[in-house]
Amino acid sequence: MSRIQMVDLKSQYHEIKPEIDQAIQNVIDSTAFINGQAVREFASNLAAWNKTKYVVPCANGTDGLQIAMMALNLSPGDEVIVPAFTYIATVEVIALLGLKPVFVDVDPRTFNINLSGAEKKINIKTKAIVPVHLYGQCAEMDALLAFAKKHKLFVIEDLAQAIGSEYKGSRTGNMGDIGVTSFFPSKNLGCFGDGGAIFTNDDELAGKIQMIANHGQSKKYYHDTIGLNSRLDTLQASILNEKLKHLDGYIENRRNAAKQYDELLENLTGKLEIPYRSADITHVFHQYTIKVALERDQLKSFLSKKGIPSMIYYPLPIPKQKAYQKYTSDSFPVSEQLANQVLSLPMHTHLISSDIAFICDTIKSFFHE
Ligand SMILES: Cc1ncc(COP(=O)(O)O)c(C=O)c1O
Repeated sequence: MSRIQMVDLKSQYHEIKPEIDQAIQNVIDSTAFINGQAVREFASNLAAWNKTKYVVPCANGTDGLQIAMMALNLSPGDEVIVPAFTYIATVEVIALLGLKPVFVDVDPRTFNINLSGAEKKINIKTKAIVPVHLYGQCAEMDALLAFAKKHKLFVIEDLAQAIGSEYKGSRTGNMGDIGVTSFFPSKNLGCFGDGGAIFTNDDELAGKIQMIANHGQSKKYYHDTIGLNSRLDTLQASILNEKLKHLDGYIENRRNAAKQYDELLENLTGKLEIPYRSADITHVFHQYTIKVALERDQLKSFLSKKGIPSMIYYPLPIPKQKAYQKYTSDSFPVSEQLANQVLSLPMHTHLISSDIAFICDTIKSFFHE
């Protein structure tokens, strides 16, 4: 295996191994594997950290998105606006619930949803919009919230990649009706398996979300609504409780790595573009994604030969995926171009400066700089 990794979970674990091991052991000793104390503690700690009134933990981010849409009473035939360039989970749950995904293109600089042109996709069935804060940078929320208000749409923020990113001082997960995140191991706050959480500041929605995530149960064995079995394991919650204490530091490390990448790559203008930062938004760098207009795939294999991994998130926009072509035959020029240009470089909390320098030198040598 190459020494440089896209994500180094081992170093992160080893740094806090005694605390994590103890937390896991405590859960094993208690045998409260489901809905144990650590789950309640984590929900309350994360709510405080994110400055959100309610956090409902669930089994994974995909379930979280589904539960959010169920809590908002979205029903078959309703239409939900989504970016064409995102991870599949955002759209999958829309399709699974019998709703219709309505795709809009993204901004070439921020990679996030671009609402110009979205107006003409609104009709009486349009009920919600899902901004995905891609790669760790919050979407342009003022315009999005104004658009949602004008058309009476619910807003579900997908912050799976952007926990902690701020838009004009507000944390992701607090600006829509509901926010959803993922604790997939490689995420900025990741557990040791699958996990997710749903955020809301609305009392009534919080109750509904809680109920839907627990079999639609109002009290034990009484089911008021159709729900899911979607719980965060106590073991995962105990790990997340420990890691949450370090989340600010993890974000800081990612930002520092991004800054170093920026400095070393910025004079390659014309060959590649470093990630754009909006002045109103703080980026948490789930990914450090460059755009390479020409020879992206050749650069990727060149890096690979030198022991440097890189990833293409994502090689095909969702409306062009086989399973989703039935929803539209429209073209999404920016998403389609990005799919051919984006390249995510190694990014994690323990990326060392000499590795970033090596990665950037290798990129420069590819371009004969
Ligand atoms: C943007 C986005 N949405 C949703 C998800 C789904 O999260 P999970 O893998 O926990 O189901 C992910 C992560 O995988 C994601 O990146």
